[in-house]
Amino acid sequence: MNRRSLVSITDYTKEDILRIISLTEKFDQNPNRRLLEGKVCATLFFEPSTRTRLSFETAINRLGGRVIGFTDAATTSSSKGETLKDTIMMVGNYTDIIIMRHHLEGAARYASEVSRVPIINAGDGANQHPTQTMLDIYSIHKTQKGLENLTITLVGDLKYGRTVHSLIIGMSHFNPTFHFVAPEELKLPDTYKTFCDEHGIEYHEHTDFSQEVINQSDILYMTRVQRERFTDLMEYEKVKNVYILKNDMLEDSKKNLRILHPLPRVNEIQQDVDANPKAYYFEQAKNGMFARQAIICDSLNINVD
Ligand code: CP
Repeated sequence: MNRRSLVSITDYTKEDILRIISLTEKFDQNPNRRLLEGKVCATLFFEPSTRTRLSFETAINRLGGRVIGFTDAATTSSSKGETLKDTIMMVGNYTDIIIMRHHLEGAARYASEVSRVPIINAGDGANQHPTQTMLDIYSIHKTQKGLENLTITLVGDLKYGRTVHSLIIGMSHFNPTFHFVAPEELKLPDTYKTFCDEHGIEYHEHTDFSQEVINQSDILYMTRVQRERFTDLMEYEKVKNVYILKNDMLEDSKKNLRILHPLPRVNEIQQDVDANPKAYYFEQAKNGMFARQAIICDSLNINVD
């Protein structure tokens, strides 16, 4: 694997996470620096995206770098049968770093094994979304004034939600207590519960999105039910509106509670929550630009100071 790729949040130690947070703070204070002058970055999106691609591309533009890439694989030679390996080999000839999203779990890991330039995983199927995790952890750090000993409630599609999977692993360094709120059909896969068991992390599973759980949370991490991962759309219809956060449900919540959501939102947070000062999802998405600036500079070994 290319030494500076970021494929999974497990590629980062606790020290790496804290270092990226510290770099992200610097970009949050000043995102316009000419650190990528002369660099060309590729954004290869085999799956749709709004925030991840645009925040990466804005991050690069604000650092003086240039971007090439695609948003629709159907317009590329992969539609003629070109393999992922060949695509990565070619793009690696042109650019200094490759940021990629792919529907296949493991695609980014495979790319990192054949690539001559760093690969940044911008989401691979239902598996991992490590740059989202870094902006999530930064948002938690910024709003809670630290990361240790927090109660984090993850709500919704915990089966297919790759941001949830990466966040559990990323926050495991900081002694969290997790509440996992999901219907039976969308429960967290056993592998992540085993991970918590092996790391001595307290967790509780619920099918009810209860007031009691909301009121003890420091972070409420809402997620969308991932329609695109269902093979049977009848199953999706059954669970699509299973949990909906409404403003009045926050009345007795902790003062420091912040509501996060990786976005896009469908119905799981009512619009009236947006005006509540505890709603943080739009600022969270903005933090993505700073976190991605930090990750790119770190991967390219660029000294930010
Ligand atoms: N959070 C996130 O990955 O959003 P996009 O799918 O819009 O990139």
